[in-house]
Amino acid sequence: MCGIIGCVGHEGETTDVLVEGLSTLEYRGYDSAGVALGNGDLEVVKQSGKIDDLRDTVAAAGPEGHLGIGHTRWSTHGPPTDENAHPHVDCTGEVAVVHNGIIENYQTLRDELREAGHTFRSDTDTEVVPHLIEAALSAGAEPEAAVREAVSRLDGSFAVAAVIAGCDAIFAARNDSPLVLGIGDERDGVGQYYLASDVPAFREHTDRVVYLEDGQFVRVSASGWAVTDLAGEPAAPAVDTVEWDPEETGKAGYDHFMEKEINEQPRALRQCLSERVDELGGEVNVGDLAYLNPRGVQFVACGTSYHAALYGAQLFRLAGVPAQAFLASEYASAPPPIGDELVIGVTQSGETADTLSALREARSRGARTLAVTNVVGSTVARECDDAFYIKAGPEIGVAATKTFASQLASLNLLSIGMAPSKDDREAIASLRDLPADVQQVLDDSAAEEIAEAYLDSDAYFFIGRGLQYPVALEGALKMKEITYKHAEGFAAGELKHGPLALVTERTPVFAMVTGDDEQARKTIGNVKEVEARDAPVVAVTDGQSDVERYADHVLSIPESSPRTAAVLANVQLQLAAYHTAAKLGRPIDKPRNLAKSVTVE
Ligand code: F6R
Repeated sequence: MCGIIGCVGHEGETTDVLVEGLSTLEYRGYDSAGVALGNGDLEVVKQSGKIDDLRDTVAAAGPEGHLGIGHTRWSTHGPPTDENAHPHVDCTGEVAVVHNGIIENYQTLRDELREAGHTFRSDTDTEVVPHLIEAALSAGAEPEAAVREAVSRLDGSFAVAAVIAGCDAIFAARNDSPLVLGIGDERDGVGQYYLASDVPAFREHTDRVVYLEDGQFVRVSASGWAVTDLAGEPAAPAVDTVEWDPEETGKAGYDHFMEKEINEQPRALRQCLSERVDELGGEVNVGDLAYLNPRGVQFVACGTSYHAALYGAQLFRLAGVPAQAFLASEYASAPPPIGDELVIGVTQSGETADTLSALREARSRGARTLAVTNVVGSTVARECDDAFYIKAGPEIGVAATKTFASQLASLNLLSIGMAPSKDDREAIASLRDLPADVQQVLDDSAAEEIAEAYLDSDAYFFIGRGLQYPVALEGALKMKEITYKHAEGFAAGELKHGPLALVTERTPVFAMVTGDDEQARKTIGNVKEVEARDAPVVAVTDGQSDVERYADHVLSIPESSPRTAAVLANVQLQLAAYHTAAKLGRPIDKPRNLAKSVTVE
């Protein structure tokens, strides 16, 4: 949603460290940004617009200090204006605060502070925090105690970081919003430390991190760091080492992160499958999860991850285990009965508020929970009983691509590992071939020509059956979020029950037809329905059926099993969406109104 950064111990370079950190966090929000530098006095520079705009402004303003905090915003309270950009300051300009999350009781606090004489300059919920700190300071509290007192008044979700004029430390706390401490090396006897919403913000400086827990408070200064609970009881958090390299967060010569991440899928899949697939033994290794033996599985997830969950639920059902996928934001409104069901939260970021809240609901009713996530140390991984990492590496583009492929691969591993069936050998062999098959799709895809041919379309439709149905939904989501064109995905059989009315010669229909079985034959029937209405048909096919006869264009994938054909077809749809958006000149990595990590419900 928003991104926070903080650093100490980079005298003369603090602004650069903050602004560079913010640019790696820009995927979390990008409508306004700012920094506050502490060096005796506080200097705050903030404005609406992107990080590049802020970079120019700070270069001209030249603020410096031995510590600082910064923020990139995705508006929730108030439009993206200069006033609403973080950091927010108190009446005296001596306290600056950045915040990610939502302060639910901000209106009550704001009324109370106004009555006490405080003046507010923004529409944000965040601004109550510097004023609460100011009130505590003027009542005689020391800086650290003043921040603790302010934080203890907040209800809702937050990661906050505060700096105070004349104080050599950054104070920060978290509740329901991510916050990571980075521990750098000492330079000339000065410790270098970082705080951020996500590791990429400081990964080029250090790989040693502490993932802060909800209810923890941290003080960071050039002489060291200390984590306590909100009441001040010392905590002894583990220091973890990040496994990926800083280069993994760069664009590596690609025009966009999304393009790079689409092309990284063979490697991401290898990482995901490595040491987890024993082809000779016909087994997968999912550790102790193999013994969970669930009587049923409920998936909760949002967006792309929900599409992965729909696919995962089918895999479990095919293996004989009752399974259903729920939109996380809908789960709590009429929760399904839970007996011995396992509830699996699928979430790339591990921080999606809707998914966390659905998992909490399930846990409160006694369910065992499993997180399928990409981010080690994320909230979901810490809150669930077990975590299974998809190992896709960092994904920066707002549109999920390689993480979706790795989610599908992971759900294959989990369904085979937890619910063995007679088809496992064939499934494992197709998983082994998957990275190379994806590479073949990337090398040979005709998606760019197809994007060009249909650039002027009114809308794009996607149809598929069985394991290709979630792919149809995902193809449409990718197309709409990065091109801003109308796009819809349908179960192929549903077309004739209504959506067919939308189909014209200006609405290409992407039809996933793989294999040559009953499902393929029925989908070809649906293709004929749209062809008869003069809609152009793009067949995504492995060439086993005769769908090409009815198609205007073909996107080919190698022959494989139905479960891996879904991953391969999806790569073609990612490329079609990417090239369409590129030709339309869209800001592909940062589509309007969207953020990578959605930490509000
Ligand atoms: C779409 C996309 C979103 C996310 C959704 C859930 O490209 O990325 O739909 O899939 O916001 O995010 P995670 O997986 O982090 O829970």
